[in-house]
Amino acid sequence: MPLPKAELHLHIEGTLEPELAFELAARNGVELAYADTDELREAYRFQDLQSFLNLYYELMAVLRTERDFEDLANAYLARAAAQGVRHAEIFFDPQAHLARGLTMGTVVEGLWRALGRSEENHGVSTRLILCFLRDESAESALETLRAARPYLDRITGIGLDSAEVGHPPVKFREVYEAAAALGLRRVAHAGEEGPPEYITEALDVLGVERVDHGLRCMEDPALVERLVRERIPLTLCPLSNVRLRAVDNLADHPLPAMLDAGLLCTVNSDDPAYFGGYADDNFRAVDETLGLGEDRLRELARNSFLASFLEDDEERRAHCLAEVADYVF
Ligand code: ADE
Ligand code: ZN
Repeated sequence: MPLPKAELHLHIEGTLEPELAFELAARNGVELAYADTDELREAYRFQDLQSFLNLYYELMAVLRTERDFEDLANAYLARAAAQGVRHAEIFFDPQAHLARGLTMGTVVEGLWRALGRSEENHGVSTRLILCFLRDESAESALETLRAARPYLDRITGIGLDSAEVGHPPVKFREVYEAAAALGLRRVAHAGEEGPPEYITEALDVLGVERVDHGLRCMEDPALVERLVRERIPLTLCPLSNVRLRAVDNLADHPLPAMLDAGLLCTVNSDDPAYFGGYADDNFRAVDETLGLGEDRLRELARNSFLASFLEDDEERRAHCLAEVADYVF
């Protein structure tokens, strides 16, 4: 039985496995540029974030109906449950779907068909986080938040993803202020490829409660000290960092140094269909390669529940934390 954990950095579109991509393509009459799943997997050699994003957006073409989003989410939740995930805070990228002519309702209601029943069907509680694409305009983000207004009972928070460099957090000040006024929780990708200054800006200008990746904070000791002091969680994604070449190889990953520094680190899978592993695959990879050991693994699992947005269900958080404390390796 895998260690119980929460997944806090997971793009639902990044869980689209090649087999499901072809199944949905056939169902919807969408032509893919690959002959079969083997040929598609051949394309999973990324030089950087952008080269991944190109394929990630291309394959979204197979997602057309509520049922497609429901099937995608159920496939993820079943895999996550098998990997010990008890709670998942799931990102989605509505702008990428609206641009293809879908409606916000198709995306959110489709996902909700799976998420709304996830605790009973999979034993995984869920939250939904709407991400803005930072390489789109600030106006587009505001429009997207407006389109989400009828669905805010389904949405816990907002995030910021896609191409980071050249798109600093400050560009999205207004939409983050509007989201805060609506009572939404706030996170943002920062310091994946972008500089440590983007992390500071996400905290100071956007008011984020959690930083997605945050890897490059290690270049700025004063920032590390602040993140430790303010107990700001970082949602690290080790296998993603290797595949997108944020680190040369897993043995060079700064996770052990980050934990030693006292940072509130969590381990997550980002886009598991593309990066070679789901939540527990990431835990096992860092354990095997970085020699973390049982105490550190338990700390990471505990951190994941502490950093989660379970304030509206403290009973569940306590239950999950007890499971982590009682876990026998
Ligand atoms: N969208 C999906 N995965 C992402 C990542 N790792 N960074 C930024 N945007 C993303
Ligand atoms: Zn991400």
